[in-house]
Amino acid sequence: MTRILGIETSCDETSAAVLSGSGDDVRTESLVILSQDVHRVFGGVVPEIASRQHLTAIVPVVQRALDDAGATLADIDAVAVTNTPGLVGALLVGVSFAKSLAFGRGIPAVGVHHMEGHLFATALEHSDAVPPFTGLLVSGGHTLLLDVEAWGRYRLLGRTRDDAAGEAFDKVAKLLGLPYPGGPHVESLARSGNPDRFRFARPMLRRNQQPGDDDYYDVSFSGLKTAVLHAVRAATPDDFADIARGFHDALIETLVEKTWRAAKEFGRTRIVLGGGVAGNRTLVAAMQTRMGRAGATVYAPSARLATDNAAMIARAGLFHLERGDRAPLDLNAFASHPIPGLVTT
Ligand code: KG4
Ligand code: ZN
Repeated sequence: MTRILGIETSCDETSAAVLSGSGDDVRTESLVILSQDVHRVFGGVVPEIASRQHLTAIVPVVQRALDDAGATLADIDAVAVTNTPGLVGALLVGVSFAKSLAFGRGIPAVGVHHMEGHLFATALEHSDAVPPFTGLLVSGGHTLLLDVEAWGRYRLLGRTRDDAAGEAFDKVAKLLGLPYPGGPHVESLARSGNPDRFRFARPMLRRNQQPGDDDYYDVSFSGLKTAVLHAVRAATPDDFADIARGFHDALIETLVEKTWRAAKEFGRTRIVLGGGVAGNRTLVAAMQTRMGRAGATVYAPSARLATDNAAMIARAGLFHLERGDRAPLDLNAFASHPIPGLVTT
């Protein structure tokens, strides 16, 4: 059994977690997430403020995670840290801290790709959310549709050609005068909206698309965002709930259809969702209805594990540690990098 400390500082959450176990039998002993509220004032994340806040928070957040797990640093066997993708200044705080800790204690460090972390998040709550499965990662910066044959073997089927799903939610929220981050606000406003008043085109969904077509799995949300912008300009605030509903329905139908295509093509009976937008209950319910008809099961994380957290980083880090991966002391932070383990054959 390994006890691993996870650290996540890629954006505006300072998070630390302690996990223990091996293979797919892993227990979360503690998870601390400190969200940086300050960015609300600016309507988006201000990178330098994020870095400075991580610097202030990292020691108490890690200490709290250790305390909650009833552990001290002496009980930790390894440390996993997000080193890509994200805001470089923010990532560097976690990376530098993790390396110092590993060096000081003489324990291994593992660098984790943030999106691979999101892929592991659901397995922390659902023991069946393990490969093989169709994975849909929908966060503020990324939208990835993957076929996951095994942990560490990812076939990238589709991605967004422009805005990520969460980014589309945040931009539409801004247009509708809702606070940042906009996803949950748009979701609840859409619930009270009339579904028949604004029907926006479904992005990248054509009736005669075939598996070999390059837009069969890809998505694109910037056209949808522009359509919302035009609708908002021609509307009054009384129409905003109906516009939110029209946007919500179009985005969700697109994600559900693309995911269904992937599951069908690869014969998967498990669908695993991850990333902040996977905390959207309407998306999860629509996914469950569609996949359920085909006999597939949908696994989604709770809102706490859907958004950025260190438990998912520790979980992915444990997988890499068990495979023998070790971060060298010159482990660096990168704004973007492909998810590791991509397969093409
Ligand atoms: O995964 P995440 O915490 O951070 C990134 O890695 O980007 O995702 C944050 C994104 C934000 O864009 C936020 O608006 C969106 O997830 N989000 C949601 C919901 N909760 C968070 N989008 C739609 N519906 C939600 N309920
Ligand atoms: Zn994330």
